[in-house]
Amino acid sequence: TAEQKRSDYDLMLHAARFYQHQLKHHSNSKAVIDYIKGRGLSGETAKKFMIGYAPSEWEALCQQLGRNKEQKEQLIELKLASEKSPGRQFDFFRDRLMFPIRDKRGRVIAFGGRVMQADQGPKYLNSPETRIFHKGFELYGLYEAKQAHKKLEHILIVEGYMDVVALAEQGIEYAVAALGTATTAEHMHTLFRTTDKVICCYDGDRAGRDAAWRALENALPYLADGKSLQFVFLPDGEDPDSLVQKEGKEAFEARLAEADDFSKVLFSKLSQEIDLTKDAGKAKLLSDALPLIEKIPSEFYQENILEHLGRLIGRTREQLSNRVKTPKQQHA
Ligand code: CTP
Ligand code: MN
Ligand code: MN
Ligand code: MN
Ligand code: MN
Repeated sequence: TAEQKRSDYDLMLHAARFYQHQLKHHSNSKAVIDYIKGRGLSGETAKKFMIGYAPSEWEALCQQLGRNKEQKEQLIELKLASEKSPGRQFDFFRDRLMFPIRDKRGRVIAFGGRVMQADQGPKYLNSPETRIFHKGFELYGLYEAKQAHKKLEHILIVEGYMDVVALAEQGIEYAVAALGTATTAEHMHTLFRTTDKVICCYDGDRAGRDAAWRALENALPYLADGKSLQFVFLPDGEDPDSLVQKEGKEAFEARLAEADDFSKVLFSKLSQEIDLTKDAGKAKLLSDALPLIEKIPSEFYQENILEHLGRLIGRTREQLSNRVKTPKQQHA
């Protein structure tokens, strides 16, 4: 008799369990577990995040979860399998450390997979978008963070899976990561619906600093009264994973406690290549800053920033206030 049709979420959960099982029972198991330990992770943390191993064989998952035509098609639709020619499918993830991505209700909706040796293709392979996975909206670790805290006083945004997991290992269980994309406006919306305080902590490199700026621009529309956005910039070459392992929880949290407010970051970025001793520079700063300030729904923040801007360009707050359109509608 026909098996009952599996829901997409059910299939994803079974895939995650399959990868978890392989982590312990595959012939490569020892090497994979050594890799996990080498990255400073305990079995407990691996379990909390349902970390698994996608076997090196071409059809391990397909054979296990694609027993009939309908099931095989579903595997392809959910991007767990690819099809070379009709009827010939193979596993999408092979020989990778697997990070299941859960939605905020805890349902597995996608995977990220990391190679464990150099020269084995791109470092991370992520599930493409599917009917249950919309990249720009999901945050890795948000479900786990919600599980760990009744109320999330603050949320830390980082770049990578390993950052989230390594921080959790060290007892910092409120980090989330955007999935190989910039932090989008939708991410910010989700975060500010979940907490009042968002701290961005990207890698200490060029890409990380660029990511911080994009995050700032995307967060402005959600900065209502009572919400706060801060930034921590890491030493060159470090990321939260490497740093928290080096210096531990207390030292890392001390960095968070000294995070920069978004307004400081905003002005230091905008005035970077501007000569504020010249009128032309002041005019440029004004025209760059105004459209950003107008996005902020909080009048309190607007006023503060206008005051700061006024000091930099020699105008009173009143003179500037006339030039700013206050947003009519508050988000978040
Ligand atoms: N990423 C990706 N594809 C890549 C490289 C990176 O999707 N080829 C995404 C992953 O989500 C990754 C994040 O960007 O977690 C940050 O990249 P990176 O800093 O290079 O990786 P780490 O998270 O530091 O991973 P690791 O410590 O394992 O090198
Ligand atoms: Mn989509
Ligand atoms: Mn990086
Ligand atoms: Mn990194
Ligand atoms: Mn890293």
